[in-house]
Amino acid sequence: MSTQTEINKNIVQYLQKVGYRDDKIINDLAHETSKLGSVSQMQIAKEQGQFLEIITKISNANSCLEIGRFTGMSTLFIARGLSEKGKIISIDNSDEFLSLAKKYWDMDNVSAKIESIIGDGIEVMQSMIDRQHSFDLIFIDADKKNYPNYYELSLNLIPSNGIIIIDNMLWHGDVANENKNDSQTNTIRDLNLKIQNDNRVEFSLLPLSDGLSFIRKK
Ligand SMILES: C[S@@+](CC[C@H](N)C(=O)[O-])C[C@H]1O[C@@H](n2cnc3c(N)ncnc32)[C@H](O)[C@@H]1O
Repeated sequence: MSTQTEINKNIVQYLQKVGYRDDKIINDLAHETSKLGSVSQMQIAKEQGQFLEIITKISNANSCLEIGRFTGMSTLFIARGLSEKGKIISIDNSDEFLSLAKKYWDMDNVSAKIESIIGDGIEVMQSMIDRQHSFDLIFIDADKKNYPNYYELSLNLIPSNGIIIIDNMLWHGDVANENKNDSQTNTIRDLNLKIQNDNRVEFSLLPLSDGLSFIRKK
């Protein structure tokens, strides 16, 4: 049986150089976001974005939901993966970086596929369940303490064969460190275990950047 290659600094540099195809709009968005200071760490990695785009395409997803927009990198990649008729609804509880996000969505000609909602993730998702909304693919990348809630709500918002993708499931490696027991680490560690034992889904925990949990509802 082959074993997991250890992802050391050399491999990370190699992945960042060869595991991603350079793209001017994405580079400019990353560059402008980096100028915001430490909050820029919230942005997904470009290699993750590329993965989101491909999964959106090959799953033929038509309607997508995202919780956690920030400056709109993940939204942009998912929108790119959608057909002309496809749509992504993006929720964030802050409008602080919406205009920056919109600037790049416009530049990439994907704005028509994006609906932005400013609101609390749980409240908006609950009201979508009440109105019997359904999505083909949901990307979760907001406040970690609510990850278990977003996971449960998402299962109510996708049909059988629907996809959930959750970012930061390796939490900078802390989930594997027994000495890390802060509440965010424990929440993510517990959610990984819950997903592993959840008979409602199939999954793959991918060590792409900070870890993506890739989930299919049975
Ligand atoms: C990690 S960032 C998202 C990064 C984004 N996916 C990207 O590609 O750049 C997390 C976002 O979740 C938002 N957020 C935090 N708590 C939230 C909540 N309760 N409901 C909705 N959004 C929330 C924050 O405002 C922040 O923009």
